[in-house]
Amino acid sequence: MKKQLVVILVLISILTAVGIALAVSDVMTLNCPTKGNVKFTHAAHIGYAANDCTKCHHKPQVNGTYQKCDTCHTATGQPNGGGVTNKTAFHKQCAGCHKKLGKGPQMNQCNACHGTA
Ligand code: HEC
Ligand code: HEC
Ligand code: HEC
Ligand code: HEC
Repeated sequence: MKKQLVVILVLISILTAVGIALAVSDVMTLNCPTKGNVKFTHAAHIGYAANDCTKCHHKPQVNGTYQKCDTCHTATGQPNGGGVTNKTAFHKQCAGCHKKLGKGPQMNQCNACHGTA
């Protein structure tokens, strides 16, 4: 009985994970008109972050989902983004993690991110 329960719980957790993965695009285009759009492998990055969504989505969910970064971080740096522009927010978070881990495009490798999508 115990074994069957474990199997059922494992199945439920797998199905939940698949459900989350299906609700969000695996690969996204982050629009950057002046420097070139950035291809972002969201699904792969969930793995790079050891499944910890809050490594990137640092504000709580609203209506059961995470908000886009640019809801708060805009080109001008509005108050609900703490005055942090989208450029600073992305560069700090993306390149910051790559630097820390020694993997992925580093800050000076502009075109490893820009112009890829
Ligand atoms: C490595 C960073 C990172 C991790 C980890 C991450 N995300 Fe994201 N996520 C992003 C970025 C960047 C976007 C695009 C935001 C934008 O377009 O402004 C995004 C977009 C989304 C969106 C779409 C928002 C919309 O309205 O289109 C959802 C939903 C989402 N993520 C959920 C999750 C969940 C759930 C997890 C954990 C299982 C997760 N994310 C892990 C960086 C990440
Ligand atoms: C609900 C609004 C909101 C959303 C959504 C949001 N942020 Fe932020 N972010 C803020 C605020 C406000 C600050 C200022 C510090 C604080 O209050 O946490 C901040 C600070 C930051 C910082 C620190 C900047 C610095 O100079 O130290 C980074 C990096 C960052 N955000 C990246 C992101 C990324 C990337 C996303 C999307 C995955 C995102 N933020 C989503 C509101 C938001
Ligand atoms: C939690 C840490 C972390 C964050 C945050 C993060 N990355 Fe990465 N990224 C990685 C790692 C680790 C790799 C390298 C994986 C490998 O080479 O095996 C990587 C690789 C990449 C690559 C190379 C191709 C690929 O998809 O593997 C690109 C492009 C990239 N990241 C863009 C971004 C962008 C854009 C952001 C911000 C929206 C971002 N990353 C945020 C950890 C992170
Ligand atoms: C790790 C990936 C990555 C690297 C490396 C990177 N950028 Fe970015 N950059 C981004 C992302 C993601 C955005 C924000 C896109 C958005 O707002 O949706 C951005 C935004 C910008 C913007 C804001 C203007 C616009 O059109 O939205 C400029 C300018 C820019 N980057 C220039 C550079 C330069 C110059 C370098 C090299 C010194 C560089 N970037 C390196 C990912 C990167």
